[in-house]
Amino acid sequence: MRLKAILSVCLLALSTVLYADELIQIRTDRIGLVLRAEKDGRLYQSYIGKRLNNDSDLQNLPKGTEAYLTHGMEDYLEPALEVRHNDANASLLLKYVSHTIQNIEPDVDETVITLRDDQYPVTVKLHYVTYAKENIIKTFSEISHEEKKPIKLERYASAMLHFSNSAYYLTEYSGDWIYEATMSSTPLNFGKKVLDSKLGTRANMFTPPMFIFLLDKEASENEGEVILGTLGWTGNFRFTFEVDNKKDLRVIAGINPYYSEYALPKGEVFRTPDFYFTYSDCGEGQASRNFHDWARKYQLKDGEKDRLTLLNNWESTYFDFDENKLVDLMGDAVKLGVDMFLLDDGWFGNKHPRHSDTQGLGDWEETHDKLPNGIQRLVDEAAKKNIKFGIWIEPEMVNPKSELYEKHKDWVIHLPNREEYYFRNQMVLDLSNPEVQDFVFGVVDGLMTKYPGIAYFKWDCNSPITNIYSPYLKDKQTHLYVDYVRGLYNVLERIKAKYPDLPMMLCSGGSGRIDYEALKYFTEFWASDDTDPVQRLFIQYGYSFFYPAKSMSAHVTTWNKDASIKFRTDVAMRGKLGFDIKLSDLSGDDLTYCQNAVKNYKRLRPAIMEGDLYRLVSPYSGPHAANQFVTKDKNKALVFAFDVYPAYGEKCLPVRLEGLDAEKQYRVEEINMMPGQSSSLEGNGMVYSGDYLMKVGLTLFTGNKLHSRIIEIQTE
Ligand code: DGJ
Repeated sequence: MRLKAILSVCLLALSTVLYADELIQIRTDRIGLVLRAEKDGRLYQSYIGKRLNNDSDLQNLPKGTEAYLTHGMEDYLEPALEVRHNDANASLLLKYVSHTIQNIEPDVDETVITLRDDQYPVTVKLHYVTYAKENIIKTFSEISHEEKKPIKLERYASAMLHFSNSAYYLTEYSGDWIYEATMSSTPLNFGKKVLDSKLGTRANMFTPPMFIFLLDKEASENEGEVILGTLGWTGNFRFTFEVDNKKDLRVIAGINPYYSEYALPKGEVFRTPDFYFTYSDCGEGQASRNFHDWARKYQLKDGEKDRLTLLNNWESTYFDFDENKLVDLMGDAVKLGVDMFLLDDGWFGNKHPRHSDTQGLGDWEETHDKLPNGIQRLVDEAAKKNIKFGIWIEPEMVNPKSELYEKHKDWVIHLPNREEYYFRNQMVLDLSNPEVQDFVFGVVDGLMTKYPGIAYFKWDCNSPITNIYSPYLKDKQTHLYVDYVRGLYNVLERIKAKYPDLPMMLCSGGSGRIDYEALKYFTEFWASDDTDPVQRLFIQYGYSFFYPAKSMSAHVTTWNKDASIKFRTDVAMRGKLGFDIKLSDLSGDDLTYCQNAVKNYKRLRPAIMEGDLYRLVSPYSGPHAANQFVTKDKNKALVFAFDVYPAYGEKCLPVRLEGLDAEKQYRVEEINMMPGQSSSLEGNGMVYSGDYLMKVGLTLFTGNKLHSRIIEIQTE
């Protein structure tokens, strides 16, 4: 024992002597983050921005600010890390020990920097994974210690970044159910701006974990320095932006420390969630394309695979359906030409049949009255009709009026000594409990085992964590928010391992729960219950900064009947197309139009799903909106143009296209029109050079209300 103590003192002494001036460049093809271990042993962030190409220049960089600041030392602002040691001391001084750089796969490197306190045996490893071609950096931290008893982690950021610029502008996202991803911008002046969530499960119902951050001056699609950042955590998060007395800014991203003190036992590693960011010196458009390319290649489930078009029954039936109605709707799916029929909420529960959202949640057996021949009949009917069958579940939740609640109150997050309150008449199961994890896994596994023909799940989550108390965690209640999310990931990991090819939609009463860690397990997300195409122009625009079109489910419904079926469908075709409509509500022409639109969508998938997105005109900028997809080989582009409520007599100027090959010749043709409609697009059918289209452009817009156009631009 004495020998061990002497040894560790010697080691500490040795590491003090070994502090060196080390430069660590973390870089992609275009981004550079330079960290520096100074002679005082501390790690500083010297630079962030456009990649520096000459290693010899790095020496000339200023020292910068301590990279991962801790509580209790000389800094007076918000720290990245705060721990309480066994002796109640809460100071931590991290010094550089070593770093490694490893190539994980082609074009992906990981740098790990080890820091340690020389008074307390606490180690922090900062990880930086660089995706060279996509210019994305992923960062997270690992915290561990060798103190006798658990140390208390009070805050534990995934990342801390420092900026020293003349001005800072933040574009943030806010919203609510049916108002998701509303964007607004604000300059950051002295003090703190915090974006956070405390909702537990439906964590980003009010604000999703993503931000756009502009340096020096306000950026635009193609100009200016911009950082896009997002946290991969399906729970409470917090972003802090703090401008100090010297006008420097720190950005701290991680799990929200609110009611989340975490007791970390000796020898265990606390790994924070991943924070991803990209930097662009040529505006927001490039930064978004970085995220899209990276997500398709590395993060989104089946990111490089195709997606299924579908017909969902939610809006056409709600809870009011039976087997025959569903079989009829499958016939509609066939008529439309989509790939799948998706059965939504309301198919389960017998003691408490799910005739509304007031009961039955948790009892995952088909309601006999509604489905006397079970799910199998539906799977068989779909197979007969040569379409796939998908099904809705909400496996983390329970209605108090259910058999599950009656049998397993101990599985429900609830306060033992208070009256329960409900969000959408339901409560949240305690996923910190491994038995509950088994149950939730069993919902998918049970259905898949019984009905292997199920080809798709829509996984919903309609309540935040309410009545916050875990019967399982007992005296570790402040672990609940963190352990819930970890429990969810355990379940999703098991599902992915057993059913690797099963596509799933992430839904949370709209998009109340979207992040890139969850999207490892989901092929797409439901962007909003608001399917009014005008609102969708904004919602889909907002998410497009981070998420590629193939991940964003967009369905044609009857919301906003002022908008034609064409307008509604054209909006949905900019995402992952689906329908949630009764064909009996459509006129003959409408149906013919939809059938043709589905065919077009399938034909145009390489541009919409795999292509580069250019946001030509923002819906926030006035009564029009337009965006463009260009295939990677630049042989095809698609322009989507929308006139919402233009002013009378408005002069419509040409809009310059982007991303084409200036040298190539392109034929311009308006497509996806109503039967019998002829195009009023100037230059329709003509051939132009890419140079012309990018310098002069096309008159995309009209003075018509709720008017839309899709234009196909194809090399000759
Ligand atoms: C909320 C979802 O966002 C809707 O699409 C639908 O699935 C309902 N839940 C069902 O309860």
